[in-house]
Amino acid sequence: MSTSVSPPKISGATVRADFNAVESVLHYSRAAERLGLWASERTLIEKHFPDPKAPLLEAGCGTGRVTLALAELGYTKITAFDFAEELLEQARAFAREKKLTRRIRFLHADATELPTSCNLLGYIAAAASLGGKSTCNLIGYNARRATNAGGFAGVLFLFNGLMQIPGRIHRRAALRGLHGLARPGAPLLFTTHDRDDEPAERRHWKRQAELWVEGKQDPALLEFGDRYFVDDDSYRVFMHLPDRAEILADLAATGWTHEWDEMRRRIAPESKAVRDFSDECRFWLARKGE
Ligand SMILES: C[S@@+](CC[C@H](N)C(=O)[O-])C[C@H]1O[C@@H](n2cnc3c(N)ncnc32)[C@H](O)[C@@H]1O
Repeated sequence: MSTSVSPPKISGATVRADFNAVESVLHYSRAAERLGLWASERTLIEKHFPDPKAPLLEAGCGTGRVTLALAELGYTKITAFDFAEELLEQARAFAREKKLTRRIRFLHADATELPTSCNLLGYIAAAASLGGKSTCNLIGYNARRATNAGGFAGVLFLFNGLMQIPGRIHRRAALRGLHGLARPGAPLLFTTHDRDDEPAERRHWKRQAELWVEGKQDPALLEFGDRYFVDDDSYRVFMHLPDRAEILADLAATGWTHEWDEMRRRIAPESKAVRDFSDECRFWLARKGE
């Protein structure tokens, strides 16, 4: 008698392995080298993160596309982290090449397991007492539980990184962790993809809704709105596409106050290179209460 075995559900480990794959490292390295900040990102960052000397935190920095561009624009206190070691390694190499290492700290950390009491702002002192290492492996990092003096003045989780965390419970853990590291009044800027922005998307999600009702969806997926596909550059991508109500509820449940959201095309026209790199998306701005 044969029994059918369901494939394992997509997990953070799946996503991390996919991001560490060579195709993904090449894809994001090209983006860091050739694209830099999108026009929409630059507009929003200059508006909501106006102080270049304020300590900023970038979650899911990848190969450093955003962080490196910010440092080149004159931002001097950026902490950027990612859980994919291969991307991070490339980001560090770019920072060394561009002589930006004094402005950026790249850390290895999982957004769903941020130690809110870890003193990221006081990291240099902590690193010194950890044997003078220049990197802080925040995955499993619990040696320092000092208070977070003041917190970050702004938090970024751009280009859908938050939505590449499988499981709503884990996305909420990330939002909660980032909230714990932000100072009162700090803005959080992130993006999502809408499920119904284009006719092809609408058709896809109508069909998916039927499959989920029938229980015939891809068994590796966790929630309605999940997608797992192979991108043009041959690397695997997990992404959750939320609806607006879901994000509003997640922000409220994790301490963030929703301030504003808008589609990218209404913020700034993007070059063809940016549009080829990333489909249309929605920007969200939330804030930690004073
Ligand atoms: C679409 S890429 C964007 C990379 C970079 N921010 C950019 O705009 O080019 C999403 C990034 O989020 C990171 N990421 C996803 N889940 C994460 C997690 N749980 N903790 C830390 N980083 C994560 C991935 O490794 C990847 O680098």
